[in-house]
Amino acid sequence: MSGAVLVTGGAGGIGRAIARRLVADGYAVILADRDRASGEAAAKEIGCEFEEIDIASETSVMAGIAAVAHRHQRLQGAVNCAGIHMQALVVETSLADWDRIQTINSRGTFLVCREAARLMARQGEGRIVNVVTKLGFGNPFSSAYIASKNAVWGLTQCLAIEMASSGVLVNAIAPGHVGPGTGMEAAFRAKAEKLGKSWEEFEADVVKTIPLGRWCRPEDVANGVSWLMGPETSFVTGELINITGGFQAYAAAPDAEAVREAAARGPGA
Ligand SMILES: NC(=O)c1ccc[n+]([C@@H]2O[C@H](COP(=O)([O-])OP(=O)(O)OC[C@H]3O[C@@H](n4cnc5c(N)ncnc54)[C@H](O)[C@@H]3O)[C@@H](O)[C@H]2O)c1
Repeated sequence: MSGAVLVTGGAGGIGRAIARRLVADGYAVILADRDRASGEAAAKEIGCEFEEIDIASETSVMAGIAAVAHRHQRLQGAVNCAGIHMQALVVETSLADWDRIQTINSRGTFLVCREAARLMARQGEGRIVNVVTKLGFGNPFSSAYIASKNAVWGLTQCLAIEMASSGVLVNAIAPGHVGPGTGMEAAFRAKAEKLGKSWEEFEADVVKTIPLGRWCRPEDVANGVSWLMGPETSFVTGELINITGGFQAYAAAPDAEAVREAAARGPGA
């Protein structure tokens, strides 16, 4: 396959692996990130273009995608991988923190989807892949994040139907616990601390919930994206592909004392 493919969050652990894989597949990859220094370094290492895009800004997304379209004439694919996390119970989540997560993860993904879809509608062809997370269960300390990713899954399903007649396929990919080497590791470490576990205990507990017996690697996610970009999935749209090693849900709940203390402190403490 060939053509230009935009990968947001390309400076991060998973985005970088996706960009690397798509370059190996023969695409002209545009690695996009709000972090110019890391993004340029990653693009240089991989051998692809860099575009500075902050998906929280409509102006930045519109200008960035217009620049890519100008250079490449068409956009074969867009992979929405930029995202952030935060570990907090609902009772201690401030409105500002809730909004910050939605602004990047769901609103930002919407903006990139919209601008990519506008180009792809004109082309009559294209692929969009949105990176969400394993959904369908309660994930303690992650309400803002999980809400944002459920929003992206809803967006994915609607856009898939809207763009079907234009030949544009829209799917989501759901990694489980990815590591080591991703920016989300800090969020996992914060979760371990909040659950009163050492990092080693937390990691071991996580592995017990993964039937295939190991954490997901960034390359596992990249393989899934490659498949969704390729010729074998030309009849696949509106789907959520789980790449979790069989992980179904967390069994851990925070203890009542910790919840009472956080509730008494309230948001923003
Ligand atoms: N690591 C995991 O275990 C895991 C699991 C499931 C889903 N995910 C999802 O995978 C994606 C990548 O995660 P990761 O672990 O590689 O994280 P990461 O922190 O390593 O990478 C995220 C990248 O997104 C960029 N970014 C953040 N806000 C941005 C913005 N406003 N505009 C442009 N770029 C922005 C960051 O600069 C960073 O390079 C995220 O969407 C995350 O929610 C990760």
